[in-house]
Amino acid sequence: MDTYLETGRLALRRFTAGDADLLIELDSDPAVMRYLSGGSATAPEVVRERHLPNILAGYEKWGGELGLFAAHEKDGGAFIGWFILRPGPQGPLDEVELGYRLRQAAWGRGYATEGSRALLGKAFTQLGVRTVWAETMSVNLGSRNVMDKLGMTLAETVPVPSDMQMIEGSEHGGVRYEITKERWERL
Ligand SMILES: CC(C)(COP(=O)(O)OP(=O)(O)OC[C@H]1O[C@@H](n2cnc3c(N)ncnc32)[C@H](O)[C@@H]1OP(=O)(O)O)[C@@H](O)C(=O)NCCC(=O)NCCS
Repeated sequence: MDTYLETGRLALRRFTAGDADLLIELDSDPAVMRYLSGGSATAPEVVRERHLPNILAGYEKWGGELGLFAAHEKDGGAFIGWFILRPGPQGPLDEVELGYRLRQAAWGRGYATEGSRALLGKAFTQLGVRTVWAETMSVNLGSRNVMDKLGMTLAETVPVPSDMQMIEGSEHGGVRYEITKERWERL
C-alpha cells in the first residue's frame, strides 16, 4: 500500500487506476450524496473518465503530497471513504481545502475527525500550509461538527454552487470554515 498518512485507526493512501469501483460504490449511496448531489449517484463513467484521472493527475501536479486519499481501517483493511487536502485550481499552495466523504458504515465513530486532525497536522508541520479551509452546506451538521471539533472557525457564509441549488436545504446557503497555522499551533 502506497501509504500517505497513518492515524491510530486509519491508513490513508494514494488512489490507483484500479480504484474506480470503490469510488463508484461510495457515490452510489443516497445518504452519502445527500448534501452533495441531493442523493443521486455519480455515473460510473464520470468516475472512470473524469474523477479518477483527475485524482491521479493531482498526484503528478503536487508530487503526491496533496490531493485525494483513500482511507482504510488499519484493523482489517476495509475502505471507509476518502479525505481531501488540496489547493484550489488556481490557488496558492499554502492555502488548501480539507474535505471528507465516508461510507455510511463508517459514520459516527470519530473517523472524519481523526483523519482530518492528522491531515491538519501534516499540512501545517510538513507541507508549508498557512491556512486550511472547508466548505459545506449550512444544513450539513455532520460536516460542520467535524470542522468545529478540529478547531476550525466559521469565516463566512457562501453561496451554494449553481449545480447544487436543487438540493434540500440549499436555500440556507453554504458555510466556509478556516483554520490558520497560528491558531492550530495555539490549540
Ligand atoms: C460528515 C461525515 C464526514 C461525518 O463523518 P463521521 O466520521 O461520522 O464524523 P465524526 O464521527 O468524526 O463526528 C464528528 C462530530 O460530528 C457529529 N456528527 C456526525 N454526523 C452527524 C450528523 N449527521 N448530524 C449531527 N452531528 C453529527 C458526531 O456526533 C461528532 O460529534 P461528537 O464527537 O461530539 O459526538 C460523514 O457523515 C459523511 O461522510 N457524510 C457524507 C458526505 C458528506 O456530507 N461529506 C461532507 C461534505 S462537505
